[in-house]
Amino acid sequence: MRFDVKTGAATKLKTVCLILPIYSSGPLPAATRAVDAATGGLVTDLIDCGDISGKVGSTLLVRPGKSVASERILLVGCGEKAGFDRKQYRKVMRAAFTALSKTKHKSAISCIHLEAVKGADVSRRARIAAEVWQHATYRYTTTKASAAETAPKIKSLGLAATAGKAADVRKGLKQGRAIGAGMNVSRELGNLPANICTPSHLVSAARGIAKSSPDLRVEILSEANMEKLGMGALLSVTAGTQEPAKLIVMQYSGAAKSKAPVALVGKGVTFDSGGISLKPGAAMDEMKFDMCGAATVLGCMHAIASLGLKINVVGVIPACENLPSSNATKPGDVVTSMSGKTIEVLNTDAEGRLILSDALTYVQKFKPRVIIDMATLTGACIVALGKHRSGLLSNSDKLANALLKAGDHADDPAWRLPLDAEYRELLKSNFADLANIGGREAGTITAACFLSEFVGDCDWAHLDIAGTAWWSGSRKGSTGRPIPLLMEYLLTGSA
Ligand code: BES
Ligand code: MN
Ligand code: ZN
Repeated sequence: MRFDVKTGAATKLKTVCLILPIYSSGPLPAATRAVDAATGGLVTDLIDCGDISGKVGSTLLVRPGKSVASERILLVGCGEKAGFDRKQYRKVMRAAFTALSKTKHKSAISCIHLEAVKGADVSRRARIAAEVWQHATYRYTTTKASAAETAPKIKSLGLAATAGKAADVRKGLKQGRAIGAGMNVSRELGNLPANICTPSHLVSAARGIAKSSPDLRVEILSEANMEKLGMGALLSVTAGTQEPAKLIVMQYSGAAKSKAPVALVGKGVTFDSGGISLKPGAAMDEMKFDMCGAATVLGCMHAIASLGLKINVVGVIPACENLPSSNATKPGDVVTSMSGKTIEVLNTDAEGRLILSDALTYVQKFKPRVIIDMATLTGACIVALGKHRSGLLSNSDKLANALLKAGDHADDPAWRLPLDAEYRELLKSNFADLANIGGREAGTITAACFLSEFVGDCDWAHLDIAGTAWWSGSRKGSTGRPIPLLMEYLLTGSA
């Protein structure tokens, strides 16, 4: 896919399809007005006769005739001009690209980007356009025999811009393309079934990503390595499966060695049956998505490398399956984590925090500036926040605020939950230093409390993405979140 900047008058832009905005009321936007004038009032006529309205997301494809350079125009409803903010702009772009991706046309130029959008300058508008494009044109086809026809045909997308803004637009396009592509890397891994997307498959994915950049290095720790390091918590989760567990370590070096890295840690349970504390059958297939934290790390690494960011980042992914067998860990078993702390496994379905505890201990050897972990950790988070905001828990107000702000700006929002010391009481065990569950109350908080025991005094934040990492029902599929939040954080230099 090629993204380009196009300058010049709308009527002179030579393309297969020119995308033009119309609002629900008020005068036509400048580009649309120019085309309307050149075609003797074609657009006005289509609006007057009711073929297209300015309603958000409505679209109409027509042939404008020889008076303009483009072969077709795609009119797109943008709603009320007064309410044209980032959310509305995203909706509009999604509708335009969805309509476009259903045609057989190979190229298009969008003039929507010329419109003012509340909360988004030209560069941000370009970023959103490229990101939405990647998102709208991703198709899951890997395990379908009959999917080829649905693949979008378009190969080149231009954004109309005034000459003075071309550089800003290019910058935004580059960022949006990288973020969108990173999200699609993550979505594909999430969508793959667990019989394909095993811990070893995540290893191959990490190696594939690392090939794209000389600044990326991958190291894989085997179960034997984990045993040597004393990762008894991680090993207790993988005990019931034949599939070998892996600890994937990716190091991106975009800055001087002396600069402390940002650590990204992602839960990589490639299938979570619950183990001996077996989950009920309904929707258990969705536990193939329990590696979306891992996929987030991989997608971010992909985006970071393709943008060549001048920062250091270390990604750590504990990857395994959680299955029952006669070798599986049993409720009541006590295991010793790499940190030395012992854990009573009261529920084998609270496995994410177990594998993360050893990964969080391990990542400290890189002396990170901050640690951010992403995990589909608790059903309780879906109860609390639904599917719109990720849960955010942190031992640092500064880091928490930076991440909240990043999420808001990237339209990938999170919401902070508290981590008061009092909650720690719920994890008391009679037989170990701590229990892996805290009872019915405050499930998302006690899970984060558990993690906080393993981060030492490092600034750390935990994103519970149980609700945001995938959609259920007819839209079932991975979302690519929270990559936009994390990339915003990394791009704004908070890192
Ligand atoms: N992967 C699940 C959390 C989950 C459940 C995410 C449903 C999305 C949808 C996690 O490993 C888990 O099973 N958590 C338990 C914890 C409980 C046993 C304390 C949960 O949330 O029920
Ligand atoms: Mn579980
Ligand atoms: Zn899980």
